[in-house]
Amino acid sequence: MSLLDKFRHKRLEAEVDFENIPKHVAIIMDGNGRWAKRRSLPRKSGHAMGAKTFEVISECAGELGIKVVTFYAFSTENWKRDKDEVESLMALLEDYLDNGLKKLKNRAQIRFIGDMSAFSESFREKQRYVEEATKNNSGFLINVALNYGSRDEITRAVRSIAADAAAGRLAPEDVTEELISSRLDTGGLPDPDLIIRPSGEFRLSNFLMWQGAYAELWFDKILWPDFTRDDLLRAVADYQRRNRRFGGR
Ligand code: IPE
Ligand code: IPE
Ligand code: MG
Repeated sequence: MSLLDKFRHKRLEAEVDFENIPKHVAIIMDGNGRWAKRRSLPRKSGHAMGAKTFEVISECAGELGIKVVTFYAFSTENWKRDKDEVESLMALLEDYLDNGLKKLKNRAQIRFIGDMSAFSESFREKQRYVEEATKNNSGFLINVALNYGSRDEITRAVRSIAADAAAGRLAPEDVTEELISSRLDTGGLPDPDLIIRPSGEFRLSNFLMWQGAYAELWFDKILWPDFTRDDLLRAVADYQRRNRRFGGR
């Protein structure tokens, strides 16, 4: 770190109110492809760098005292990409299940959200192993969104409610906002306070649309592989300057 970077970091740290850290931060890890393109590298190198950033930012989130951090890693729409790219992403994810996530095991609980039925049995077995092995870690929770899409998640939740209704276990008036929230993949977790999207796109791309109804949104042109601890601090400091009204006055 250069002296100037150190100075900037200190100044940023001083800006953050450690008494008012968002409980749940969700991050759309976008911009890997453009990062690679700028360097004339294959897209998969961008994804590999993005995976390193995921590791660093997970640690930082825990150190900052964020209780839940949700990372958007692969959307229900990302299957549309070239076979080569999807395969390299899957290989990277599998490598993480085998090795990378273990590094965080002692502090963080790791869970996956999304429709896991799309993955092979051996892949799911590894996911279950990681969830099981980390389930008693109390430091903080990392949610990894894989084959995740809000519309798909809501559809699955509605289907499970409809099944209960058809079986006579639920009456129409039992269907409340709380019930729907509890049937989502994030059931039991607080809604995200802050959603971060790097890469210069100003959209949610089907991410946490129900849960993010009152989330503060933070956009920046930085590409995910370049995202640093200081960018997380910037986003949190910015969040703390917002006035969250939730429709009240
Ligand atoms: C995000 O980076 C990673 C995934 C969506 C899996 P992209 O691959 O979308 O990168 P850009 O948006 O093309 O730069
Ligand atoms: C959103 O990024 C999904 C993930 C980061 C996993 P995309 O790159 O897929 O989103 P769009 O296509 O730009 O909306
Ligand atoms: Mg993208």
